[in-house]
Amino acid sequence: MDKADIGLIGLGVMGQNLALNMERNGYRVAGYDIDAQKVSDFVAAHKDKKLISCVTKEAFVEALERPRKIMMMVTAGAPVEAVIKDIKPLLEQGDLLIDGGNSFFKDTERRAEALQSDGIMYMGAGVSGGAEGALWGPSIMPGGQTEAWEIVKPIFEAIAAKVNEEPCVTYLGPGGSGHYVKMIHNGIEYGDMQLIAESYDILHRGLGLTHEELFEVFAEWNEGELSSYLVEITRDIFNRMDEETGKPLIDLILDEAKQKGTGKWTSQNALDLGVPTPTINAAVESRILSAYKDERVKASKIIAGPGMSFDGDRDEMVASLGDALYAAKICSYAQGMALLKDASQEYGYNLDNGEIARIWRGGCIIRARLLEDIRAAYARNPELVNLLIDPFFKEAVESRQAALRTVVSTVIGMGIPVLAMSASLSYFDAYRTARLPANLTQAQRDYFGAHTYRRIDREGSFHTEWTK
Ligand code: 6PG
Repeated sequence: MDKADIGLIGLGVMGQNLALNMERNGYRVAGYDIDAQKVSDFVAAHKDKKLISCVTKEAFVEALERPRKIMMMVTAGAPVEAVIKDIKPLLEQGDLLIDGGNSFFKDTERRAEALQSDGIMYMGAGVSGGAEGALWGPSIMPGGQTEAWEIVKPIFEAIAAKVNEEPCVTYLGPGGSGHYVKMIHNGIEYGDMQLIAESYDILHRGLGLTHEELFEVFAEWNEGELSSYLVEITRDIFNRMDEETGKPLIDLILDEAKQKGTGKWTSQNALDLGVPTPTINAAVESRILSAYKDERVKASKIIAGPGMSFDGDRDEMVASLGDALYAAKICSYAQGMALLKDASQEYGYNLDNGEIARIWRGGCIIRARLLEDIRAAYARNPELVNLLIDPFFKEAVESRQAALRTVVSTVIGMGIPVLAMSASLSYFDAYRTARLPANLTQAQRDYFGAHTYRRIDREGSFHTEWTK
C-alpha cells in the first residue's frame, strides 16, 4: 500500500476536517486517535477517500512516508504533552511533528528544543477558522525551523483559505512564533467579540431594537467597512428562533461567557512586555465579569442605576454606533499589532505585520475587510510603530471620533457598561496626548518612596524632600 503523505493525530472535529481538506487537495492522509472507535468511525464514514486509518501508534508511524510529517490536533496542555511522549520513541531523525492546537507559545518553544536534540523537527502552527475553516480553508500560522516549513509548505498552501488566490498561510518565524501569532489573533478576536457584544447591548437594551431590527443593522454593517465574519454570524444569530419556544434563541442563552485562555494569555503577555492593550484586556475582564452571574443578579436588585431611557434620534444613534464600532475596532487592532511588533523584538521572531494581516484576511475568525487596509498600511511603511499614525487609519479614526465619543458618553449616561469601547476611546486619547498626568504619579512615588523622577528641563534623576 502507498505510504501516506501526512499523518493526523487527534480525530476530533478539527482533526477530521483538516484530514478531509488535505485528502480533497490530493494528499494521502493517515489518521490516528487514542480512541480507536473514533478512527474506525471516521474511516467508515469516508470509505471512498485516500485515508489510512490506524488503531495503533506503531501502525500509524509505519504508514507514513519519510521524513514523516505528523500534525497533532489535540487539546493544548497535558494532551499535547502526552502525545509527544507517546509518539517520540517511534520517530526518527528528520521527522517533523506539528502542533496545530492552541498551545502556549513558550510550551511550544520548550518542546521544540527538547525534540531538536533528537533530530526531530517541531513546529507550532496555529489554525483558525473553526470546523468549517478546517474543512474548506483555514488561516494557518506556522512557526519553527525554516527546513520544517519547506517540508510542509505545499500541503499548508494547498489546504489554506485563499484570498485573491493567495493562500492564508506563510512562514511566520522561528520557535514559538506561530503559536504566538495565533494567541494574538485570539486576543484580537476577544476584542472584536466584546465590541460587537457591547454594540448589541446598546442597540437592544439601550435603544430597544427588536431582533428583526438587529438583524437588519448587522446585515447593513456587513455590507460596508465593518464587513467581517464575526459581524456576519452575529447578523445570523439574531435571525435564529428557538424551535421549542418560538422565541429568539439569543434571548434564551445564559449570559456567562466561557474562555479557554488564549485571550487571557494575550493580556498577560502584553503586561509582561509592557505594551498597552486596554481593549483586549477589557474584553477578557468582561468575560470574567459575565461569569459573576449570581452576584450580578443579586446586585441588580440592590444597586440603582440611572434608568435606561434614550430620548435622542434612534436612527442617528445607530449610524453613530456603526462609526464608533469601526473606530473602536481600529484602536483594538492597533494594540494587537503593536504587541506583535514589540514581541517580535523581544523574542527575536522577526515578524512581518503586513504578512500577518495578509494571512488573516481569509479563513480565520477575525477575517474582515479591515485586514486588507492593515496589510496596505504595513506595505506603505513596514516599520510602522502604531496603526493610528498610518495616514489611512489616522483619518479613519479622527473622522469617527465624534461618533465614538457621542456613543460612549451617551450610553455611560444610561448606565450601559462599555468596557471595551471606552477602553478603545481612552487608548486613542492617551496615545495622542503629549503630556499625560504621569508626572503626578512620579511625584507621588518620589514623595512616599523616594523613587526619584526625571525632569523635563534637565537631564538626570531627582529626589525632593517633599515634607520639608
Ligand atoms: C479560532 C478560534 C479558536 C478558539 C475558539 C474558542 O481561531 O478558530 O480562536 O481557536 O479556540 O474561538 O476560544 P475561547 O474558548 O477562548 O473563546
